[in-house]
Amino acid sequence: MNKPISVAIDGPSAAGKSTIAKRVAAILGFTYIDTGAMYRAFTYAVIKKGLNPEDEAASCSIIPEVSIDLLDDGRVLCNGEDVTKAIREPLVSSNVSYIASYKDIRLALVDMQRAMSQSKSVVMDGRDIGTYVLPNAEVKIYQIASTEARAQRRYKENVEKGIPTSMQDVIDNLTKRDYIDSHRAFAPLRPAEDSVQLDTSAMTIEEVVDAVLKIIEDKTGVKACR
Ligand code: DC
Repeated sequence: MNKPISVAIDGPSAAGKSTIAKRVAAILGFTYIDTGAMYRAFTYAVIKKGLNPEDEAASCSIIPEVSIDLLDDGRVLCNGEDVTKAIREPLVSSNVSYIASYKDIRLALVDMQRAMSQSKSVVMDGRDIGTYVLPNAEVKIYQIASTEARAQRRYKENVEKGIPTSMQDVIDNLTKRDYIDSHRAFAPLRPAEDSVQLDTSAMTIEEVVDAVLKIIEDKTGVKACR
């Protein structure tokens, strides 16, 4: 069997990482791993337990009792409960950056993420994949887009999913999360030195997918058969 390949896609919130990562993984037959969904599921567990996500000690206290599963069909389970939709709700979105800033929670989830990429080829998206989770990933992409482009995409996504939000709420949430994600002490959001930066503000999804496939082919020789 060929050695598994890891593709890391990092970047700020709503830069379109998951859409691209999912499509690229499907085209190449790789497994898609949405690490943001894992931080969101943990946040859900903290809120469900009646704990305050801004309280680090309380949030970390439930690490031993939280199990998170990413299913092949895209569903996310938290302690066996299907939380796929719930983890996109505004209450989780507005608290997840606190949870993602706690070192002990990150270490627990990073262990799971590394284990998932050991024996199979993956496209993993997040904030610290190229810098911390998979520093030896064969391909590292840092995907960015302007705040306006990101807010418009996230707003459209929320409307399609029936999640009630205003455009201003979306902009406020993105700006706040960008700040917390890039200023936390442990494994903050930043481009890996050996990443390829891709500004997708003016690109269509197909153009971004093609650009990412080309980068993967250049770095690894793996060619998409379409
Ligand atoms: O990609 P997303 O919006 O679903 O991510 C949710 C939050 O989790 C986001 O605020 C940043 C955080 N996150 C992180 O810190 N590290 C990751 N590898 C993935 C997400």
